[in-house]
Amino acid sequence: MAILVLGGAGYIGSHTVHALIEAGREVVVADNLVTGHRAAVHPKAKLYVGDLSDRAFLDDLLRNETIDGVIHFAAYSLVGESVGNPLKYYRNNLCGTEVLLEALVDHGVQNIVFSSTAATYGEPERIPILESDRTEPTNPYGETKLSMEKMFHWTDRAHGLRYVALRYFNACGALPDGSIGEAHDPETHLIPIVLQVALGRRERLDVFGGDYPTADGTCVRDYIHVCDLADAHIKALEYLERGGESDVFNLGNGVGFSNLEVVEAARAVTHHPIPSSIKDRRPGDPAILVASSEKAGRILGWKPQHTDLKEIIATAYRWHQSHPEGYGDR
Ligand code: UFG
Repeated sequence: MAILVLGGAGYIGSHTVHALIEAGREVVVADNLVTGHRAAVHPKAKLYVGDLSDRAFLDDLLRNETIDGVIHFAAYSLVGESVGNPLKYYRNNLCGTEVLLEALVDHGVQNIVFSSTAATYGEPERIPILESDRTEPTNPYGETKLSMEKMFHWTDRAHGLRYVALRYFNACGALPDGSIGEAHDPETHLIPIVLQVALGRRERLDVFGGDYPTADGTCVRDYIHVCDLADAHIKALEYLERGGESDVFNLGNGVGFSNLEVVEAARAVTHHPIPSSIKDRRPGDPAILVASSEKAGRILGWKPQHTDLKEIIATAYRWHQSHPEGYGDR
């Protein structure tokens, strides 16, 4: 009996595969390696290279393996790109998931945990954000994730395929031993870009916007360590295995840090001045996103372990220092 991890060669997927194997689970990974990396896949996991929109590929995998639960990370996740190319996101994130769900229903799989996002909320109506708050995405990425949640809901109603949707806030950090980490191309996220400056791979950081209604004028985000996210997936899977009902959970630390506070913390970790300057706002960035994860604590028994921003950044720095070219496969 194995857990199938779709997108297990990606950033959060690879850390979750690692955690599953540490927990003694058998793991099968399926990844098309478009944004994922072969070297990120744990050597004890069995890798199938293919696309989840390929029904024959899925049928073959589901016939060969005995799968008793699925964790689904396979999606495009760049907000800016999704605004410029929405149909790419609809095709991959929604159409791909539709094919996947048909296959899972046909093969009798009963539990699935999947990645959702804070981007389902759009401009939050209050901070911290609760799962029951208004969901009005401001970009196609968030819209496709919200539609995925609804697709899962109706599929459960019709076919009894139970799900947990995990709405991540800002995923960051790396496995503390530095062996796997974040490797996007192009990189758009704040912490890896700040660390690229510290490592001399970029000259400076552009801080997008200094006139937000926050204490220092820069955006505030809730940074959650990727290993805490991995742990939440295992807890969500165990919850479904115990017979838990389909549900949606926020995953964040519940504390917000401004972009300038992140830069300050990175300066302290790296002992590099990290030159930066305030530029125009980036379109689509909400001013403040901070999660209430009270529900995940109460129902899943999840509690983030990595709550210190400097410690989180230090794990990311270890990875970037030892892998300046990422996995070196692009
Ligand atoms: N930022 C900069 N300079 C950069 C890169 C980012 O100032 O070079 C700023 C952004 O403008 C934002 C903050 O740093 O204010 C965080 O940006 P990230 O790109 O690191 O993360 P986001 O908050 O945009 O994205 C996260 C998740 C997405 C999710 C989104 C919801 O990564 O998956 O939150 O809004 F969709």
